[in-house]
Amino acid sequence: MSKIAVVYWSGTGNTEAMANFVSEGVMSAGADAEVIPCADFSADKVANYDAFAFGCPAMGSEELEYDEFQPMWDEVKEVLGDKKVVLFGSYSWAEGEWMDSWKADADEAGVNVVDSVICYDAPDDEGEAACRALGAELA
Ligand SMILES: Cc1cc2nc3c(=O)[nH]c(=O)nc-3n(C[C@H](O)[C@H](O)[C@H](O)COP(=O)(O)O)c2cc1C
Repeated sequence: MSKIAVVYWSGTGNTEAMANFVSEGVMSAGADAEVIPCADFSADKVANYDAFAFGCPAMGSEELEYDEFQPMWDEVKEVLGDKKVVLFGSYSWAEGEWMDSWKADADEAGVNVVDSVICYDAPDDEGEAACRALGAELA
């Protein structure tokens, strides 16, 4: 059974809710999911998983959360190889530009990003379905 890590940072719970829906989508498609706060994840754990979902809300000025998520991402993106990756996160001030920058950064590092989902504020029914589908796609 393939094993998928859902690694996230969340300040007020919206991206955490998305992470849980992604995980449920993974499991509904028959794979094993582990939901991991980004502070507990690092490059040396990448080899233990077959694919990855990374979640981080828009923070700063259309940036990733700088204290815990960005350092983890900068280290991990270099060792993902061609393993499948999806990106997700919540926003509420702008239009989702942080995700465009994040995907560009992932592309530059050669990360195999197959899809992404953004949700305005807390995931609504449509957001929940999109997160579940994202997880299923990864499985
Ligand atoms: C310090 C800070 C910076 C933020 N910067 C942005 C931003 O640049 N663009 C945006 O659309 N939302 C921004 N937001 C809003 C958050 O992305 C939004 O509230 C999101 O739902 C938080 O997700 P979380 O509950 O997973 O922490 C910011 C919020 C905070 C607290």
